[in-house]
Amino acid sequence: MILYIKSLKELQKLASAIAKTLKGGEILALSGNLGAGKTTFTKLLLKELGIKSRIVSPTFVLMVPYSSKGKTYYHLDLYRTSSFNEVSALGIEDLWGTKENIFVIEWAERIKKHLPKKTISFRFEVSPFKNSERKIIIKNAPKKFKI
Ligand SMILES: Nc1ncnc2c1ncn2[C@@H]1O[C@H](COP(=O)(O)OP(=O)(O)OP(=O)(O)O)[C@@H](O)[C@H]1O
Ligand SMILES: [Mg+2]
Repeated sequence: MILYIKSLKELQKLASAIAKTLKGGEILALSGNLGAGKTTFTKLLLKELGIKSRIVSPTFVLMVPYSSKGKTYYHLDLYRTSSFNEVSALGIEDLWGTKENIFVIEWAERIKKHLPKKTISFRFEVSPFKNSERKIIIKNAPKKFKI
């Protein structure tokens, strides 16, 4: 599925629509160039999911967990690493099998071949015409989601 997002407001609507579909156990794999909008989308999504604390960059610690309403959301940013061993050492393979846990992984293309088949992937592309517009290619998009 390909979406054309015209503004941050529309990205917020997408985040809200995606948040409503999450039941637990999902892995969201975000990819796209520097400044494409992965972190912006993650912040909007986590806010939408009820996370009140400040969302910090996981670039140096790789993974930051947030809890809300009985679920734990793990935010990863793999910009600094392409090593699946390093990521695996965090224990993610045990965690992502469980219904309470939801993953949002920036620069997920770096571990693409290790991600489960059910992974929902979002590829962010900046419009060549307008800096506020994004093309977002979603694979394994949740069924029945409406913006
Ligand atoms: N429609 C839009 N969608 C997403 N971001 C937008 C949009 N319009 C403007 N922006 C701006 O583009 C920037 C996107 O930066 P962001 O940090 O989210 O990118 P990123 O993909 O996480 O990059 P990096 O890989 O460097 O971490 C933000 O400053 C955001 O405000
Ligand atoms: Mg980012």
